[in-house]
Amino acid sequence: MAAPRLVVVSNRVAPIQEGEPTAGGLAAGVLDALRQKGGLWFGWSGDISDAPEAKAERTVGPISLFTIDLSRRDYDDYYRGFANGALWPVLHYQIGLGRFEWPEFAGYRRVNETFARSLAPLVGPHDLIWAHDYHLLCFAEAARAQGLSNRLGLFLHTPFPAPGVLMTIPAHADLIRAMCAYDLLGFQTETDRTAFADYVLRCAGGVAHPDGVLDAFGRRVKTGVYPIGVHVDDVRAQAETPANRRQATRMRANLMERLILSVDRLDYSKGLRQRFAAFERFLADYPAHHGLATFMQIAPPSRADIETYQVIRRELEAEAGHINGRFAEVDWVPLRYLNRSFPRNVLMPLYAEAQACLVTPLRDGMNLVAKEYAAAQDPAEPGVLILSEFAGAARELDAALLVNPYDEAGMARAMDQALSMPVEERRERHAAMLAVMRRNSLERWRDRFEADLRTGPA
Ligand code: ADP
Ligand code: F6P
Repeated sequence: MAAPRLVVVSNRVAPIQEGEPTAGGLAAGVLDALRQKGGLWFGWSGDISDAPEAKAERTVGPISLFTIDLSRRDYDDYYRGFANGALWPVLHYQIGLGRFEWPEFAGYRRVNETFARSLAPLVGPHDLIWAHDYHLLCFAEAARAQGLSNRLGLFLHTPFPAPGVLMTIPAHADLIRAMCAYDLLGFQTETDRTAFADYVLRCAGGVAHPDGVLDAFGRRVKTGVYPIGVHVDDVRAQAETPANRRQATRMRANLMERLILSVDRLDYSKGLRQRFAAFERFLADYPAHHGLATFMQIAPPSRADIETYQVIRRELEAEAGHINGRFAEVDWVPLRYLNRSFPRNVLMPLYAEAQACLVTPLRDGMNLVAKEYAAAQDPAEPGVLILSEFAGAARELDAALLVNPYDEAGMARAMDQALSMPVEERRERHAAMLAVMRRNSLERWRDRFEADLRTGPA
């Protein structure tokens, strides 16, 4: 019998073109799975329109793409409201930044239902349906209501918080019940999986079986841990290509000798404010680096119509001005703050040029920048990864310099240590990280999830 077709559902469908280089994050993983075996990718077009359910269809190689627009009301309630205004901060333990409204939660469910209703006619009885991320926690419940009895799995790219934190969302019980309509729930780390299981067992009367299988709400759901990876060889190849490399070397020549790099979406969960403060502490406490070290923060604006994101942007602009005002010399600007994104053929060689990479989220599902930085390094002369212990990546990359993003002095010390680390230690740490990343590759992530979805929660 032919292998079942893969149907991917995610909030956004990546703007893919045939022959283009691999994208980052969710898009890279999904594309990989679909390119290999063919299939369908369904999601929001990214557009807001008056004909919200208009479907656009496109084919790229073996992949069929279907997108729908959202109405202004759906966008406000679902995307700007519940998903990013209430759920995202709580999933990242930022309880104080969450803002819950019941009508917005109703809008979130409504859009999950719209997705299910629009997708139902496109799905065959044996297709495997793989949903992604926090936008679609209620999608399986909606799909079941549409009569779909296919195998349905969700991979959560974000962290999953401890029950006491999740319960600050008044609709927590509805969310967990809806999640249990999936056959398979995939998490980035065991900490996330255990947090979900804890809620189901202690707060929802569920029962645990071996191999992560849970019974709750009259259904059986399998839970598992699938740490997402990167294409190690692709990243290194992009970092090394001579044409790409020339540009990065030119950039580096303008940036003094010791480059510390950070690359993030401009998001409060990434710990940018704490990181800027730690860099200021580093400049104050380790003056030997003055005139030599530059910290480059690349942070393109994200979700810019949400107030919490506007606040963090203003704060960072003020802080960047303050740090440069305090320490800059006529021939040295310690902090470069760039609010834009770069193509991967610029970013990967830049990673390779940086002596250190600061990846210090307050909480992160995985953080692929950490893995990309490690993969981009020259094994003979690698840079040092400074990584938050609260990023999912820290569970695998424990050979990085692990820091607590709330500890300014500790982060400043790690910057000094990274810039002074002997090459033997750098090679040893890098080799250990590379070995883990090769083992937990993107292919393995995809294959393990798909295999478990096919088998189901027996
Ligand atoms: P998140 O999914 O929360 O944005 P990740 O670190 O897991 O965080 O993934 C971010 C992805 O986006 C990475 O693949 C990274 O290369 C890419 N990215 C982040 N910032 C930029 C940027 N300024 N320019 C280009 N790509 C970026
Ligand atoms: O998991 C974080 C994530 O949703 C990614 O999937 C996505 O690439 C990124 O955030 C961008 O966010 P948005 O789709 O809200 O612009």
